[in-house]
Amino acid sequence: MSQEVQASVVHTRLDGEVLVVSINNPPVNALGQAVRAGLLAAVEQAAGDAAVRCVLLVGEGKAFIAGADIREFGKPAMPPSLPEVCNRIEALDKPVVAAIHGPALGGGLEVAMSAHYRLALPAAKLGLPEVTLGLLPGAGGTQRAPRLMGVKAATELMLGGKHLSAKAAQAAGLVDKLAEGQDVLAAGLAYARELLAQGAQPRRTRDIEIADKAAALAELDALAADTAKKSRGLFSPAKIVECVRAAVELPFDEGLARERALFTECLDSPQRAGLVHAFFAEREVVKIPEAKAAAPRAFAKIAIIGGGTMGAGITVSALDAGLPVVMIERDAESIARGQANVEKVYDGLIARGRMTAEAKAAVMARYTPSTSYDDIGDVDLVIEAVFEDLEVKKAVFKELDRVCRKGAVLATNTSYLDIDAIAAATSRPEDVIGLHFFSPANIMKLLEIVVPAKVAPDVVATAFELAKKLKKVPVRAGVCDGFIGNRILAIYKQAADYIMEDGASPYEIDEAVRGFGYPMGPFQVTDLAGGDIGWATRKRRAATRDPKARYVEIADRVCEQGWFGQKTGRGFYLYPQGVRVGQADPEVLAIVDAERAKKGITPRKFTADEIMRRYMAAMVNEGAKVVEEGIALRPLDVDVTFISGYGFPRHRGGPMKWADMQGLEKVLADIREFAKEDALFWKPAPLLEKLVAEGKSFESLNSL
Ligand code: 3HC
Ligand code: NAI
Repeated sequence: MSQEVQASVVHTRLDGEVLVVSINNPPVNALGQAVRAGLLAAVEQAAGDAAVRCVLLVGEGKAFIAGADIREFGKPAMPPSLPEVCNRIEALDKPVVAAIHGPALGGGLEVAMSAHYRLALPAAKLGLPEVTLGLLPGAGGTQRAPRLMGVKAATELMLGGKHLSAKAAQAAGLVDKLAEGQDVLAAGLAYARELLAQGAQPRRTRDIEIADKAAALAELDALAADTAKKSRGLFSPAKIVECVRAAVELPFDEGLARERALFTECLDSPQRAGLVHAFFAEREVVKIPEAKAAAPRAFAKIAIIGGGTMGAGITVSALDAGLPVVMIERDAESIARGQANVEKVYDGLIARGRMTAEAKAAVMARYTPSTSYDDIGDVDLVIEAVFEDLEVKKAVFKELDRVCRKGAVLATNTSYLDIDAIAAATSRPEDVIGLHFFSPANIMKLLEIVVPAKVAPDVVATAFELAKKLKKVPVRAGVCDGFIGNRILAIYKQAADYIMEDGASPYEIDEAVRGFGYPMGPFQVTDLAGGDIGWATRKRRAATRDPKARYVEIADRVCEQGWFGQKTGRGFYLYPQGVRVGQADPEVLAIVDAERAKKGITPRKFTADEIMRRYMAAMVNEGAKVVEEGIALRPLDVDVTFISGYGFPRHRGGPMKWADMQGLEKVLADIREFAKEDALFWKPAPLLEKLVAEGKSFESLNSL
């Protein structure tokens, strides 16, 4: 890296006796190689210049420093290393002040903890979120944070990955002083001068003694036990606890060496690769052609049609985002139920002490119930969430076409229906789009934005803007049966049904899927969502199903008993009064046996690994088809869909990233092997075959 580049990301300027070192590496001042080198050079400059009596570190732009440059992970390390930079800062024989006005995260906070004094402005955010990337703080954070904050608080900060406000950081011992306003340079200089006037000396975090080591170790034992329970196969949390143990037990330099070794293990882990992929994929999904081509339309007031499960959840989501909402229902009774559905959410928060009655009243003041479409002539955006029935939806859209102002965005929350057909019921298909929320809509992050043929680009851009306002993770999808998520789900659910009919119990399958990292298995999910929903879809599809396709009837048999899952007290599992974690049901196993016998299938054993190979191969193969058909823009859109909406373990990066990490040739070989049993179901996606033939990965398709 040339001197010029280094100079351009880290500037130094002498202000009286204070050397101001400012970091200018947009967008977030990440600690790329040039910044590390620039910081090191700045410290050397301070050390060598007698005119310098104090050093002030500040970040330009919105951030102090948002951490290591995540894009460098997985590439060859380039000196100087961040630990080296931090140690050099700490060792300087002149006081170093870090003035923090924005994110000081990960390596950013590690730099600040290596400084001798810390000042924070109101917008500061301090944290060690490395765990969210499969890592641990690797530049002294695990050794310095416990010294500044105490062992328990520091470990919890690192395990939780949360950000602290300036005030909370001061209370925790991370920050020495708070300043008002936004002028970080002025506040930093004032603090530096105050310290000089007091004759302040370098005050090194490494020299702080951890008090009461025995108590600290007992706290760590408790945290280690808790982490083992909660971290569901995650690699780095236990390593974080190990590092803090080293901070308590070992001299500082040995603790640092231990931290470095464990950091490298995390860096090399597939979990780190999966989590970093998820981090960038979530930021890439919003980069869609329409957002580049058109500006979003303004929306200040919205209407929701239908106040059932989804309508109410979407209403809460919009109200929480500060939007006024008009809810339309069919009649007085239905709108009363719709309003009750909304209030139930807030009453639940009040009961748990997470909301006050006054706050609820303030939110509900923005809610208007109505049974007349004439009340929504002035809204900017409508989201329809009525029954999943094409004719009902078409009738609603005719009404919307009649009453809504020109330019209003008209969206449907349909799960499966043809949005082009819904749009065609209006005189303005350019304004019609799909907004597929997930249940519960006020909680689930995913929002599939479904783009029909005739929609205008600015309507698509508006939908992405709405997602941002509602704090959702939007994914652009094309029109097809089930869009991205439900279409792929239908296929891997089918694979699970085949495995069940061939010999594994639903409980073994769920266990294997949980073992992979999902919070629940597919049969538990069916029981949670209600078996009747999938049953209705299967009946709807029966007429168009390929008669040659294998069809497993077990779920239909279960539904025929009226066993729809949790809401009826039994489904694939039994839920005796009040029990939420289901129990295995011998009667369900008897149904499974009977169905196998009916088809002349002799059940065979499946290991968890075999179950997952099939489950994942089905998911990846359909994912490839969805990308090839343009239903998903890129493989990463499939990954984000499954991580944000279907419980796919984030540390595996999503199904397409998982496939890349396995090696696509291995996944294709599995599919070809399974095709020997059922060539129709296991037809390899042409895109997958093409990528394997060319020696490429899904990643190669991720940049637009
Ligand atoms: N490295 C590289 N790029 C980064 C980055 C980082 N640490 N942090 C953010 N970016 C990029 C994003 O990818 C995005 O790029 P794009 O515009 O090309 O898509 C851009 O910066 C803006 O990021 P956001 O869209 O997330 O902006 P927000 O304003 O919403 O959020 C933030 C800012 C809170 C700083 C958020 O970006 C964030 O949480 N960043 C990651 C922080 C983090 O995890 N740091 C720890 C890194 S690991 C580490 O430090 C290891 C060390 O211990 C050795
Ligand atoms: P629901 O049955 O709970 O609610 C539908 C509501 O629409 C009822 O309150 C009904 O009174 C109202 N309604 C029917 N016709 C109406 C009309 N003409 N005008 C005004 N209101 C009318 O159904 P749910 O589950 O909320 O589903 C709604 C839509 O959301 C469906 O299209 C469904 O496919 C979709 N969806 C459902 C998900 C779920 O998990 N339940 C997830 C994602 C989408």
